[in-house]
Amino acid sequence: MITYAGFDELIARVYAHRQDHVFEYWGELIDAERRELLNDLTGIDFEGLQSLFSQTRRSDAVAGEFGPAPFIPIPKTDDENAQRAQAREAGIAHIRSRKVAAFLVAGGQGTRLGYDGPKGKFPVSPVAGKTLFQIHAEKVLASSRAYGVDIPWLIMTSIANHEETETFLEEHDYFGIRETLVHVFPQNLIPSLDANGKLVLESKNRIFKNPDGHGGSLTALKTSGALDFLAEHGIETLSYFQVDNPLVRVIDPDFIGYHVLNTADVSSKAVTKAGPEEKVGVFVRLPNGAYGVVEYSDMTHEQQHLQDCSGALVYAMGNIAIHLFSVEYIRRLTAGGAIELPYHVARKKIKSLRAGAPAEIDGFKFEKFVFDAIPLAERSIVFETSRDEEFAPVKNRTGVDSVDTAREMMSALFRSWLAARGISVPPGVRAIEISPLLALGPDDLPADLAVPDRPDVYLS
Ligand code: UD1
Repeated sequence: MITYAGFDELIARVYAHRQDHVFEYWGELIDAERRELLNDLTGIDFEGLQSLFSQTRRSDAVAGEFGPAPFIPIPKTDDENAQRAQAREAGIAHIRSRKVAAFLVAGGQGTRLGYDGPKGKFPVSPVAGKTLFQIHAEKVLASSRAYGVDIPWLIMTSIANHEETETFLEEHDYFGIRETLVHVFPQNLIPSLDANGKLVLESKNRIFKNPDGHGGSLTALKTSGALDFLAEHGIETLSYFQVDNPLVRVIDPDFIGYHVLNTADVSSKAVTKAGPEEKVGVFVRLPNGAYGVVEYSDMTHEQQHLQDCSGALVYAMGNIAIHLFSVEYIRRLTAGGAIELPYHVARKKIKSLRAGAPAEIDGFKFEKFVFDAIPLAERSIVFETSRDEEFAPVKNRTGVDSVDTAREMMSALFRSWLAARGISVPPGVRAIEISPLLALGPDDLPADLAVPDRPDVYLS
């Protein structure tokens, strides 16, 4: 057994859990490298590794019969419109009483966009070329101004992009949001395992770990101290959204109103799927009555294509990864008690060392999904919204769900706002962008707004 002063207990634990292969290169390491390896091992939950490995034999498929989840539809009838107005009032009151914060998950990189940096730094707006971060920031700021309150903004990054994200936000003065209202923290890492449940050495003195998924954001809220930050600010509701959707309404009074009136732990927005094969999870009601999301990859072909007697898709409500969380529920979920998010397993090739040389081995990566918090909740709601108004995911450089489609959707939405207010758009205009700081919706547009006749118009 190796020894190192101050780390006896840790070293004994590594041996007791039969993970001592991590010391294979110990004899070759200098003191600083040995310390690095021991520090890397310190954060690992050795007791948990066994149960993590047992997950690799479990299927993600939902056991038993599930059906489509009921949802609050986009209002059409007078009754539904009246309910919506009531919800809006409740939502506005909640926001004005300083109980809401925005929470952006931005752990991902722009790799699929051909960009080697935080995805949030990618420029997407159709005319001004604003980055995803700027668009989200300006919406938070504009909402603060609209409701006369300071809305805090939490941003979860990953180890890969934390520093670059912080530097970018600092350089841009947080796009006008007061620095003390912005809380940026990296998500946690979880070790990957090889085919035999062993830790993997990424180098002679480092353990291979991967970010623990967006579901890890709830744990990271706790471990980073963000829950304390929220308590200090008296925040009760977190408005959660992904970095890749420039159309998201980051603070939506209607949605917040329904969440509050239903005293929900989690609320989720949904859009009608573009077609049976669209790559989004769908909202379902599980056999025990709770709601949940089933990923597209876990649905059978029959389930994806199932139609009702009118020819409509049965599993039609797509998850667009916009949720509201009660902060109290996040506290319960992360308290280490009976309820905890499960891990999902992905078989992956992992870069490792074999007999001192770099090698790719078969292994398992583990991730938590934030929507697994829905079935664990005591109360949750699903709220329908319009795709054109709120979902333009930037997943690819071109084609479906791309930078191009997002730009087109943004421009089309802004055009529809102008039309709704009877503001005419000259024929020479090709692309339109409206700054969130000018308007968050058609009602905010000044009545005397004139749109200039040129191909690209930016209204701010
Ligand atoms: C996700 C959802 C899917 C939903 C779709 C909507 C999953 C498994 N599926 O799909 O149900 O319909 O979005 O666009 O999530 N992130 C982190 N840390 C991580 C992993 C992800 O911060 O460890 C963030 C990313 O920065 C991004 C978001 O989570 O903002 C989504 O991740 P992504 O991998 O793009 O999800 P999708 O597979 O597109």
